[in-house]
Amino acid sequence: MLTPEDLKAKKSQGEKISMITAYDFAFAQMAEAAGVDQILVGDSLANTMLGYKSTREIGMNEMLIFVAAVCRGAPNTHIVADMPYLSDKDPQTAYDNAKRFMDLGAASIKLEGTPEGVIEFLRSKDIPVCAHLGLLPQTAENFKQKGKTEEEAHAIEDAAKFVDSLGCFETVLEHIPEELGKKITREVKSVTIGIGGGKFTDGQVLVMHDALGMHQRKLPPFATKFVDMFALGTEGIKKYIDSVKAKQ
Ligand code: KIV
Repeated sequence: MLTPEDLKAKKSQGEKISMITAYDFAFAQMAEAAGVDQILVGDSLANTMLGYKSTREIGMNEMLIFVAAVCRGAPNTHIVADMPYLSDKDPQTAYDNAKRFMDLGAASIKLEGTPEGVIEFLRSKDIPVCAHLGLLPQTAENFKQKGKTEEEAHAIEDAAKFVDSLGCFETVLEHIPEELGKKITREVKSVTIGIGGGKFTDGQVLVMHDALGMHQRKLPPFATKFVDMFALGTEGIKKYIDSVKAKQ
């Protein structure tokens, strides 16, 4: 399993890092078999697995079930557990919740933004932290690209330097201009993982349901569908139905 130090070594060697979300045992096994560097149990499971509109609609109870399943399915892969909305609302709450993920086998936790005093406290307790900047789905008013204005770009850049100085080993940069992703990647020691952050970040993350075409929703502009599992699955189920009807 890659440690935060291994991932930072890859950055310094210019080796790209692959991360994909997975939420359950079967797909975690698939991601590990494919050899992905990191699996993110993202709170995007609120949308992909549970059909909610917003990631704000799930909490620790749901996340713990999915993180445990992924840890069982991919015991040799670095698993990042996403802190759901308000689970990091203050330093002690964040630590208690992060510890529950780590006890299940997660290698690190991810949190959105820079909640007051939280990253400092988690790092003082040796919890490996992946930051998340740019578009922050838990609190965003819309899903437009962030960092387009000079002011917004500076704020994201400053936040990236700040979380780097606090000892985050990694930072997800979501839906920001490519040049900003490039600049931040050059400026920080932590590994930058883009999702709509251009091609110059140290690595990339995609939501598995987007990458594998597991749903019929419109993809975000930065996502690529590598296979059409919705079509494959529907076809397989139709074949099964036909065989049942034909009494085979
Ligand atoms: O929850 C999630 O899947 C994420 C990714 C979009 C980075 O945070």
